[in-house]
Amino acid sequence: MSSRSELVARDLRAVWHPFTQHAQWPADDPLVIDRGSGVYLYDTDGRRYLDGVSSLWVTVHGHGEPAINDAIRAQLDRLEHSTFLGLTHEPGIRLAEELLRVAPAGLSRVFFAGDGSSAAEAAIKMAYQAALQRGRDRPLYLHVAEGYHGDTLGAVSLGGVELFHATYRPLLIETRIVGSPGVLGVGQTRAERANEVLAEMRAVLSREGERVCAVVVEPMVQAAGGMLTHDASFLVGVRALCDESGAAMLVDEVATGVGATGTWFGVDHAGVVPDLMVVGKRLTGGALPLSAVLARESVYDAFLGTPLSGRTFFHGHTYTANPLSCAAALANLALMHERGTVARAGVVGERLGAALASAAAYDGVAEIRRLGTMTGIEVHPVGQRTGFEVCRAARRRGVLIRPLGDVVVLMPPLGISDSELDELARVVDASIREVVQ
Ligand SMILES: Cc1ncc(COP(=O)(O)O)c(C=O)c1O
Repeated sequence: MSSRSELVARDLRAVWHPFTQHAQWPADDPLVIDRGSGVYLYDTDGRRYLDGVSSLWVTVHGHGEPAINDAIRAQLDRLEHSTFLGLTHEPGIRLAEELLRVAPAGLSRVFFAGDGSSAAEAAIKMAYQAALQRGRDRPLYLHVAEGYHGDTLGAVSLGGVELFHATYRPLLIETRIVGSPGVLGVGQTRAERANEVLAEMRAVLSREGERVCAVVVEPMVQAAGGMLTHDASFLVGVRALCDESGAAMLVDEVATGVGATGTWFGVDHAGVVPDLMVVGKRLTGGALPLSAVLARESVYDAFLGTPLSGRTFFHGHTYTANPLSCAAALANLALMHERGTVARAGVVGERLGAALASAAAYDGVAEIRRLGTMTGIEVHPVGQRTGFEVCRAARRRGVLIRPLGDVVVLMPPLGISDSELDELARVVDASIREVVQ
C-alpha cells in the first residue's frame, strides 16, 4: 500500500475537498483514513482515532457493522441497482414501510433521494407545486437565521449561515427570514425566544401569508448553525402558524432524525406532525448515501392527475432508492429496534452531558448546548481558529472531531459504549483546557 506521505502528495495534486480551504490544507497535516472498526477510525500509519462526530453525523452502531455489511453483500448478489423511475423493488418498498412505522403518525408517503441536500431540494419543490396545484401560487418560503439545509441552490436559499450562504445570494429563490429560535438575547429563556421568533413569523405571515408555501425549520437543534437548541414550544407554534396560514410545515430532520436527539425524530419532542419531513444522514447506519422526503397524504394527493395534466412531480435522481442503500437502511433500522438504539442515544447524551459538566465552568467556554447526542461546545476565541485548534489538540490525543467556527461539535456514534464515551469526554475536556484555559 502507498505510504501516507505519497497519498497526501497525490491528493494535493488531484483532489478538491468539500468545505476545505486548499491554500491552508497542506499545512494542516492531512490524515489519510485507511479503515474503520466500531467507533474507531485508523489512519494509514495504523494510528487509532475515536470518531467523535460519527463521520459527519452518520455512523449509528459503528464502522464496519457486520449486520449492515452482510445486508449490503446479500443485496449486491441479487440486484445492485435498478431505476426507481417507473419501476420498483422490494428493498425500496420495505424501507418506505419501515420509515412510516417510526415516523410521526400522519406522514404516509416516502419519496427517496440521495443526500440530505437532494431530499431538501425535493421537499422545497413539493411544497411549491402542491400549493400551485391546489390553485394557489405561493412562491415564497419563510425560514430562520442560522438554518442549514445543504448546499444545492434551493437548500442554500433557505439557509441562514452567513459564512456558507452569503456569496450565493444573487442566485437564490425569494424567501423571508426571521431570527433564530436558538440565538438568545441576554437573560432570555429559550421559551421566551421561541415566542419572540413566532411573533416575527406571525407578522410576516399576516402580511404575506397568502404567498408563502412553506415554513422551513430544523426541529429542536440547528446543527450546522452551531448546535443551537430551541424550545419545543417553537415547533408547536410553527405548526399552529402553518395551520392558520395554509403554508406547509417543512421540517429538515437530516441532522436530528433517526435517533440523534434521543427520539426517532426531532419533532417527537414537540408531538408535532409536519407536512413534509426530510431525512438523511444516519438512515443507512452510515454505510451508504440515502435520504428521503416523508409527506402527508394531503401533499401527495395534490400531485394526482392524468399523465398529461402536468401534476406529476417531475423530479428524481438516477440513483434514487438504490437497492444497496435501501438494504443497508433496512438492516440499520432493524438493529436500532433490536438494540433499543434510540433510547440508548438519550442515555449516551445524558452521560456525555454529565462528563462535560465541569468544562461548562471554564473561563474559555461560553456555553455547552446539547440535545441527546448532538453537542456543541462554544469556546471563546483566543486566536483565528480556536475551534479548529481544540479539534487539533483532540486529534493529538486520538479523537477526531470537527468544529463549526468556534463551536466544537461532538456527535458520537449512537452505539458508543460508556467507556468509549468517557474517553471522548476526557480528551475533549483536556483539549479545551490546553487551548482556551
Ligand atoms: C439539517 C441538515 N440538512 C441538510 C443537510 C445536507 O445534507 P447532505 O450533506 O447529505 O447533502 C445537512 C448536512 O449537514 C443538515 O445538517
